[in-house]
Amino acid sequence: MTMTPTVATAIVLAQAATTAGYAPSVHNTQPWHWTVLPDRLELTAQRDRQLAAIDPEGRLLLISCGAALNHARLALAAEGWRCTVDRLPDPARPDLLAVLTPTGHRAATADAMRFVQSMEVRHTDRRPLSERPLPREVLQALAEAARAEGAYLHVLTAEQVYDLAAAADRAAAVEAADEGMQQELAYWTSRRDGLGVPQYTLPAEQPATTVPERDFGRAGTLPTAPGHDRAASYGLLYGDADEPLWWLRAGEALSAVWLTAIGLGASVLPLSSVIEVATTRAALRHLVADLGWPYVVLRLGYADPDQPGPMHPPRLTAAQVVDTSAVRHLLDDA
Ligand SMILES: Cc1cc2nc3c(=O)[nH]c(=O)nc-3n(C[C@H](O)[C@H](O)[C@H](O)COP(=O)(O)O)c2cc1C
Repeated sequence: MTMTPTVATAIVLAQAATTAGYAPSVHNTQPWHWTVLPDRLELTAQRDRQLAAIDPEGRLLLISCGAALNHARLALAAEGWRCTVDRLPDPARPDLLAVLTPTGHRAATADAMRFVQSMEVRHTDRRPLSERPLPREVLQALAEAARAEGAYLHVLTAEQVYDLAAAADRAAAVEAADEGMQQELAYWTSRRDGLGVPQYTLPAEQPATTVPERDFGRAGTLPTAPGHDRAASYGLLYGDADEPLWWLRAGEALSAVWLTAIGLGASVLPLSSVIEVATTRAALRHLVADLGWPYVVLRLGYADPDQPGPMHPPRLTAAQVVDTSAVRHLLDDA
């Protein structure tokens, strides 16, 4: 069942697309574009913001878009709107990633409203975690959040964390030696146009950790307390296939896990270098006993309570990512 186009539909779809702009994305590329139509919302991949060197297949682009899709779905649910979601609906238009079609109303759920509040405070914190490990119930809740979106979160054993650390070291060395990757990184860490990873979100000193974080190639300005991430847990988000539909779903799961973590006071840091390098991606497959395909690694824990949160990186404006021209007449009437 679809609904008759109304001013309210146009407004709520435009708002959901705008709210989705809070989503995390690799190197803050925000590789999504939204088109508000009278009866539906379309999500399209923005290929000119795909990272050609580290993400030639578009895996991380689709994961990022999936996170934005999950944000938009939750924003609609928080307004009490039901909708259907068609993922990759048109083989002739592979960059049309999803179509959200409102089908009616229901009571807005408190969970969805809390998730939308969490979107506004969520940010990537790369500083060392506190010494307090996450309890098992929290890790279980995060795994359930992934499962509800059709992906799996495997929490690594201590032994597997050492394998991950070796893979992350190897990936860092491969990327450091690759001129194209380094140029791409330099470009995305020096932008001033609402995109990219600014220095104020990067630690002033690279934290000493068992599993190395991504080396952004330049020191940040974010003050960092000493710490070693001994209490960190590491999760591997994985699924049944290494193809676009699954990458999109992995992004939806990443968003769901991260927003659930915020509600439980926990911190999430995605680590994707090990996924970007083919050999280390293959090594990660063995960590899940070749049962599935790895999409992204997550460092999980509690943020250091003595450290104020880092500032949020910039975002593109709604006018840059949400096309409302097809409903302009409806919005003008509002
Ligand atoms: C698919 C994906 C991969 C990411 N990989 C990394 C990573 O390897 N290292 C890192 O520090 N941050 C990583 N991030 C976090 C992004 O850099 C971050 O989301 C972006 O800069 C926007 O910042 P925000 O999350 O604070 O809004 C990743 C995010 C996504 C969605």
